[in-house]
Amino acid sequence: MKKLIKGGEVVFADGTEVCDILVDGSKIEKIGKNLDGKGCEVIDASGKTVFPGIIDMHVHLREPGFEGKEDIESGSRAAVAGGVTQVCCMPNTNPVCDNAVVVRYILSRAKEVGLCKVRPIGAITKGEQGETLSDIGKMAKEGAVALSDDGRSVMNSLIMRRGMEYASGFNLKCLCHCEDASLVDGGVVNEGKNSTLTGLKGSPRAAEDIMIARDISLAESLDVPVHICHVSTYSGVDIIRSAKKRGVKVTAETCPHYFILTDDVIDDFDTFTKVNPPLREEKDRKAIIEGLRDGTLDCIVTDHAPHGRKDKEVEYNLAAFGISGIETSFALSYTYLVKSGILSLSQLSVLMAKHPAEILNLEGGEIREGGVADLSVIDLNAKYVIDGQKFLSKGKNTPFNGFEVYGKVLLTLVDGDVKYRA
Ligand code: DOR
Repeated sequence: MKKLIKGGEVVFADGTEVCDILVDGSKIEKIGKNLDGKGCEVIDASGKTVFPGIIDMHVHLREPGFEGKEDIESGSRAAVAGGVTQVCCMPNTNPVCDNAVVVRYILSRAKEVGLCKVRPIGAITKGEQGETLSDIGKMAKEGAVALSDDGRSVMNSLIMRRGMEYASGFNLKCLCHCEDASLVDGGVVNEGKNSTLTGLKGSPRAAEDIMIARDISLAESLDVPVHICHVSTYSGVDIIRSAKKRGVKVTAETCPHYFILTDDVIDDFDTFTKVNPPLREEKDRKAIIEGLRDGTLDCIVTDHAPHGRKDKEVEYNLAAFGISGIETSFALSYTYLVKSGILSLSQLSVLMAKHPAEILNLEGGEIREGGVADLSVIDLNAKYVIDGQKFLSKGKNTPFNGFEVYGKVLLTLVDGDVKYRA
């Protein structure tokens, strides 16, 4: 049966308008005023907002291997509850997704689960060990949408260069986790005033910036595109901005925790604040926001990194890095970027859906006639307090517990089917 989503404020890339959306099968057939709902299932969206399905291009689903932290089913459930219709999952699983068999497994498991679309990212190097290139061609053929050794940088520049070269031959981008391991040197928080005050070992901005600069330099010399993951430093934003000015094909992402939090929150040693790269300082937070505003940073992702209690209920130095973020990314981004007047809803939709689709050549990313019916209905006026214990994700590890946010996802459609209803 066709569906008519009636009277919502529809978010397009260049503005919003109150109108109806007629969905036939997996596609949007028509968008307009007062469309005829005869014979349709009518979804009343009046007073609500219709947002394009979010594409989160940086997610850890943990399966295979770490199903205690998350699996494809729990992660997909959490995704659709957050208005996310496509997730790109990172390869730091066990076994590592560095070959076609693991890519195939993830795709077939995601199909069985049948909630959001899951797009596997293959490792650049075998076992993410940084030594030998993985089976890039075979993974591309099987359906990998990008390559990354996320969680670490490929430290050997020659191997990274070959990875980029090889990837571009298959029309894949390298998504670069930028951290010089020798400079991180066991650091668990940002190096600065707060690392000194807490006595926790700091990791300098330079560890991130050096690798951002290196990977941009490699891409520039090869004239291939490159994508920089989870940017957290003011200086990293500057490096990317100037590369873009030179015409380098670089794109970049950041996460809600980098534009909302600073390392002031580490003072009570809450391990939910431990993330990689670390939370930085106010000048970094401001620069990240400016980067989102002026187009230096192309997308907002979550780096959804679910962990279990035993990974986080330990002393800070021993705790796992990562934040469970997929259920809160819209509300946090809306509250801190749109409600605060920094960005428009349309700009947010471009950062969370359109750009990720363009960067990874995925379907969707915007609401348009003939496009895929991936979207969500959101009540922007609904205010709630974040409580990680209520997450559908197995990872309850959020540093945003107690934060009051706006924007409750009421319904999510994937390929025209209702996959989440609040
Ligand atoms: O904090 C993080 N956690 N950063 C990463 O890059 C990896 C991730 C994980 O896999 O837990």
